[in-house]
Amino acid sequence: MENKKKSYIETYGCQMNISDSEIVASILETLNYESTSDIKTADLILLNTCSIRDNAEQRVRNRLNELHSLKRKRPGLIIGLLGCMAERLKDKLLEEERHIDLIVGPDGYRQLPQLLEQVESGQKAINVLLSADETYADINPVRTGGSGVTAFISIMRGCENFCAYCVVPYTRGKERSRNAQTIVKEAKELFENGFREVTLLGQNVNSYNWEENGDKIGFPALLEQVALVSPQLRVRFATSHPKDISDELLEVIASHENICRSIHLPIQSGSTRTLEMMKRSYTREWYMDRIAAIKRIIPDCAITTDIIAGFCAETEEDHLHTLSAMREVAYDYAYMFKYSERPNTIAAKKYPDDVPEEVKSRRLDEIIAMQQELSLKSNKLDVGKEFEVLAEGVSKRSDQQLFGRTSQNKVVVFPRSSYNAGDYVKVKIIGCTAATLKGELLTV
Ligand code: SAH
Ligand code: SF4
Ligand code: F3S
Repeated sequence: MENKKKSYIETYGCQMNISDSEIVASILETLNYESTSDIKTADLILLNTCSIRDNAEQRVRNRLNELHSLKRKRPGLIIGLLGCMAERLKDKLLEEERHIDLIVGPDGYRQLPQLLEQVESGQKAINVLLSADETYADINPVRTGGSGVTAFISIMRGCENFCAYCVVPYTRGKERSRNAQTIVKEAKELFENGFREVTLLGQNVNSYNWEENGDKIGFPALLEQVALVSPQLRVRFATSHPKDISDELLEVIASHENICRSIHLPIQSGSTRTLEMMKRSYTREWYMDRIAAIKRIIPDCAITTDIIAGFCAETEEDHLHTLSAMREVAYDYAYMFKYSERPNTIAAKKYPDDVPEEVKSRRLDEIIAMQQELSLKSNKLDVGKEFEVLAEGVSKRSDQQLFGRTSQNKVVVFPRSSYNAGDYVKVKIIGCTAATLKGELLTV
């Protein structure tokens, strides 16, 4: 057998990037590369990068420094940068980081064969063209590293919302939806291969829109088609934009038990004034109306969010509105960030980044403390209740315990008994921390 070359991909940033790395791995397989988890044996090292905040980019810069010394020891090693940072910085990166051989933006992965050939012939190679229609619909991702139970399916790419703080519309380009049939087919194949949960991914899944033979398929219809693959296949999705999460979508979720009771609805700020400056196109009242709709139509639904502390011109009063909004919704979980100005975004051009660093930090701490309290409260409400948990693997703490998730996306640790990853297990919650639920097996 021909000796295969080894590729090592390191992924930074969001779930979309994890999904993209699987597409890249699939393209590399056709080039006689096999994935390795041992960086020391790799012939090709790719970093799939993120630009969302400055510290995301700094992490990659530090990693590149480490790789630099690896490359000095092994001159034949190819180092490539993929993803959002590649797209944002383009050929500037080739000047700044001289040991990089290859730069490929999110829409350029199909060109990898030609680009690698160019590198192997001793040149640097770059493709940062964005596309209006690339969705990699026909590429079957290689599911590396995962548990074999849960998988991501990318259903759309790009974003055209241009929230004032956000770099994504510049790094990911125009919004486009992927052929619905290929999505349903991918879900079916995953199920047949033993997967029991899929997460449909896009920056704004509610605006999914595919038209074929005069048939229009929006997100509610797509979600339903995927849910109908099997009642044994759990379906999740991320992310929903508050401006267009419809009652129709909520009704679809409510009517299929295998669509998970968990909605990620980033609020960003609880102050309408700040939301307006962020160009989020909803008010606090609109957002709260959507929360009320979720609680009415899907009473057992968990709600999670993203919050930015210290956006431009944010006053103490705006910040207090954020804290009060958190309490009002009673989020089950939140991702919380300090505002980080990104070059060339609307906010960077229009507003000074004027909240002092120590004020940003203090506000973020208060937001984190609030969420800690809310998460613990939410978990305590689950103690004594029964849930069906999808087992994902052996717990890190003890090999006598498994961990899995409830439909609400909460992690539960419970006795292993004779269960395996991929099993649905009925448990009763007997304890909790702010981060995890502890369960005992229910004898049926
Ligand atoms: N498409 C999703 C979010 C994608 S980015 C949505 O619109 O909800 C993930 C999160 O990163 C955002 O929700 C936001 O909270 C945060 N984020 C984006 N840009 C940021 C910035 N410049 N500084 C700090 N946080 C940011
Ligand atoms: Fe960024 Fe807004 Fe698009 Fe989300 S919706 S990716 S925050 S521009
Ligand atoms: Fe980061 Fe790009 Fe995702 S900026 S968050 S990797 S879309």
